[in-house]
Amino acid sequence: MSAPPTPKSRILGTGHYVPEKVVSNVDLEKIVDTSDAWITERTGIRRRHVASENEVTSDMAALAGRRALEAAGLNAADLDMIIVGTISGDSPMPACAAHVQQKIGAGDIPAFDVSAACAGFIYGLTIADQFIATGAARCVLVIGVELLSRILDWQDRTTCVLFGDGAGAAVLGPAGDDGRGILASRIFTDGSLAHALTIPGGGSAEPLTPEGIARKRNKVHMMGQEIFRVAIKNLTSASTAVLKAAGLTSGELDWVVAHQANMRIITQVSDRLSFPLEKFVINIQEYGNTSSASIPIALDEAVRDGRITEGQSVLMCALGAGISWGATLVRM
Ligand code: ACO
Repeated sequence: MSAPPTPKSRILGTGHYVPEKVVSNVDLEKIVDTSDAWITERTGIRRRHVASENEVTSDMAALAGRRALEAAGLNAADLDMIIVGTISGDSPMPACAAHVQQKIGAGDIPAFDVSAACAGFIYGLTIADQFIATGAARCVLVIGVELLSRILDWQDRTTCVLFGDGAGAAVLGPAGDDGRGILASRIFTDGSLAHALTIPGGGSAEPLTPEGIARKRNKVHMMGQEIFRVAIKNLTSASTAVLKAAGLTSGELDWVVAHQANMRIITQVSDRLSFPLEKFVINIQEYGNTSSASIPIALDEAVRDGRITEGQSVLMCALGAGISWGATLVRM
């Protein structure tokens, strides 16, 4: 058996923020033709948090980022880079990360968004790890944030019941020689399934017109079953790939923090990885699918309540529009 890889970067601190306002399944029964029973049984979601009218994406991202910096015992001045995974930034241009830089008081450091939908945080971690590994950056703030409630069609029951708003963050810095840090990270995209999850209007292919807006072309459209099938397969294969790269078996894992899209997807990934469901960090019942924010919110909750502790091995995996997916294995 070969020696485990030597980590180059490690997680120094995590943080998250979710808006105060809660929308329950029963609340949704009053808006669309759905039921608490259908949503709970088919997805595991019971509530989701929704941003207030005066909140924007970068506000939530900055709060999560500040909390991660605080947990790491660092200041914004210590950062070399900010990466924000989001598909629902403040505006199409500039990057949400540029606003975050200003809101947390960081200097003129590179700050950019990554568009990988629900996989945005895993993409961000993978990029940050590379910059730290080469020595080009020492300290990187990675944020996953979405304000999806503003880009959902609240008359479409097949999407509006699934998603929620929130932000999660991690500060990465150089690993020491204690074996803690990112052991392996893998990212993938299959653009042949780009049509399965889109916001079709508002880009060069379909500039927005009043007619397009009336047809909700600027809102999320999803082929749920197609995504469902591929999510189980690809979350399992990406997880298996990072385990192999790190020379570990699923039996040696302490926790899995999978993207919180659907409880039935998580259950099937648990079966396929032969890893017990009790060792998955699950909060989908409270937040729904917060896309790129779902992993860092769950990770931070489990760190703060003492489930995840120093030295434990944690596998994170996510899949979203693109379709893009990936997994990261970390020793905390
Ligand atoms: N309430 C009541 N009935 C509903 C609702 C609802 N909210 N939504 C759909 N239905 C109905 C459908 O109309 C259909 O009715 P019909 O049989 O009369 O036609 C029936 O329920 C079954 O619909 P399905 O689509 O077959 O339901 P399914 O069991 O596949 O669940 C779901 C749908 C929850 C969307 C599931 O497919 C899923 O979770 N997909 C994955 C989504 C995902 O992972 N997204 C991640 C990426 S998100 C990102 O990147 C931003």
